[in-house]
Amino acid sequence: MSAVLFAANWKMHHGPRAARALAQAVLAGTKPVADRLLLFFPPAVSLPAVVEAVRGRTDAAVGAQNIHWEPKGAFTGELSALLAMEAGATWTLVGHSERRHKFGETDDETGLKVRAALGAGLRPMLCVGETLQQRTDGEKENVVRRQLEAGVGALGAEELARVAVAYEPVWAIGTGVNATPADAAAMHRTIREWFARRGAPAAGCSVLYGGSVSPENAAALLAEEELDGVLVGGASLTAESWLRIVATPRAGR
Ligand code: PGA
Repeated sequence: MSAVLFAANWKMHHGPRAARALAQAVLAGTKPVADRLLLFFPPAVSLPAVVEAVRGRTDAAVGAQNIHWEPKGAFTGELSALLAMEAGATWTLVGHSERRHKFGETDDETGLKVRAALGAGLRPMLCVGETLQQRTDGEKENVVRRQLEAGVGALGAEELARVAVAYEPVWAIGTGVNATPADAAAMHRTIREWFARRGAPAAGCSVLYGGSVSPENAAALLAEEELDGVLVGGASLTAESWLRIVATPRAGR
């Protein structure tokens, strides 16, 4: 049975000192268990501090929030997969909706980033999800399939097994309005079907839900067996709130 992933996306919050303290508090408040993986996505500048905090914990890993697809060069302000690895990251987010919608990241760029991540040995977590307009237009499945196609469509089955997907409807991120557990589960099935058609082992693909996950709704969301975990922004910024989410019991796992 695969581990449940609890991924904390700290966005542009917490410099090295605060990030280390928060990671330490979360780790001190949890026992390492084999069926749970804690993932921390701090700002790039805080990667080494959080890597240091999780050292020795087999149930925790650290990732970058974004990478560039080139290995090095004249790309001021960017972070390559190799640099993230050197800082101790083992994961990276790719195509977070804020990257797509606030920084104009294209579908094609997500594909380049996923390949760069895998090439360097980082596990990519591709974020997908529709806007409210796309949902209203009845286009949500098509949008997500298109994002999967562009992000990971060129990969073989073995590489696909190293990819995680976070379904994060844009309208749910930071709004306090989460997708219903049933809606999230339905989209997770669509994502799994897409992976299965590519020959990826169904159990190999972790699909997380993100978008206004809170201590209050985490149990209902994680009661859906289609959800392999949650990607959490706002509610992962304090130890108190994040520990309540991480403690969510998972029936049957
Ligand atoms: P939120 O953010 O939990 O604050 O909605 C989720 C995310 O952006 O990954």
